[in-house]
Amino acid sequence: MRANPNFQKLPAGYLFPEIGRRVRAFAAAHPDAQVIRLGIGDVTEPLAPAIVAAMHAAVDEMAVRATFRGYGPEQGYDFLLDAIRAHDYRSRGVEIGADEIFVSDGSKCDSGNLQELFAADAVIAIADPVYPVYVDSNVMAGRTGAPGPDGRYPGLVYLPSTAATGFVPEPPKGGGIDVVYLCSPNNPTGAVMTRDHLTAWVAWARQHDALIVFDAAYEAYIQDPALPRSIYEIDGARECAIELRSYSKRAGFTGVRCAFMVVPKELRGVGAGGERVSLNAMWSRRHSTKFNGTSYVVQRGAAASYSAEGMAQTLGQVAFYMDNARLLREGLTAAGFTVFGGQHAPYIWLGTPGGAKSWDFFDELLTKAHLVGTPGSGFGPAGEGYFRLSAFNSRANVEEAVARIRRVFA
Ligand code: MLT
Repeated sequence: MRANPNFQKLPAGYLFPEIGRRVRAFAAAHPDAQVIRLGIGDVTEPLAPAIVAAMHAAVDEMAVRATFRGYGPEQGYDFLLDAIRAHDYRSRGVEIGADEIFVSDGSKCDSGNLQELFAADAVIAIADPVYPVYVDSNVMAGRTGAPGPDGRYPGLVYLPSTAATGFVPEPPKGGGIDVVYLCSPNNPTGAVMTRDHLTAWVAWARQHDALIVFDAAYEAYIQDPALPRSIYEIDGARECAIELRSYSKRAGFTGVRCAFMVVPKELRGVGAGGERVSLNAMWSRRHSTKFNGTSYVVQRGAAASYSAEGMAQTLGQVAFYMDNARLLREGLTAAGFTVFGGQHAPYIWLGTPGGAKSWDFFDELLTKAHLVGTPGSGFGPAGEGYFRLSAFNSRANVEEAVARIRRVFA
């Protein structure tokens, strides 16, 4: 069979497995090194008790003929859809219909899959640096040429997010773009978009008939209640934006897997004959064809994160990780690093000492301090010279990491 040639355009390994490979090689060569991993953003706190209790009860239901369940509703059970509508949206003054929410098994899958909605030759814009799945999934689908020597893919529009703009991408001057991916709070920089930023993006998207894919996987980490958590808090966003939400970072679900996507009924794409087509209807068709729903037990767990206890317990976990972020920020600053992020996001973004290449600093940090982070260049060419540290870890590990950084670099 003829294989998809677009895979040849990708770097050999996805970012995080590549980091894992390097760390395993280091650990094998230095078996006594106590390596602390602040690379992949993976939660470390156990599931909240309210979530565990709900999942146990759901398993018990599945064990009895009278309450056993097979396939569930494709878009999700009403108990979860209702909780999402009330807690994630109505509480912020936003009304979202149950048939506009699509519960899934993770935002990584959602953000990779949703490009099936776009024309084969759709023009894609991405903030740079950003979560690598947006680029890689569009490369696999053939929307780019092979990358140039600077690592940029021809055919993609890069929106550099630099220190000068607070790592927030600005809308391009003109149009000609079909889709833009925005992630706020941002992975990897930790930058958060304000109401003004989002208002400017929504105005741009509506003016140029573009779609915004708004990835809000880290919204629970926003500390200022005045900052928007959903793009639908901005007037007009229902006509131009899809939103991604996840339970991974907000409820400790990286190993449980649950997320959802909002596709408003107003959203329209342009069909082959110039006619308007409903993206909600298209995604519903796609979802029900290729996905059989998130498991009942998992959806019960996700719904429990909205109960009074579940909310208090999961917010407590978020606060714990944000305290880790504060310790990392303070420690790195005291060691002389230029530090960004970590205020509304569980990621610290730092300039490498002397502007060293990101992967060179990765090696230096690993060999000198036995610490693992993520090279900024792994998130896009504009991430070169930067480095990401994750605040997801035990307090003891974060304190030890800070002590090592100060010892080695201060
Ligand atoms: C990260 O470290 O960037 C995240 O864990 C990636 C993800 O959520 O897939």
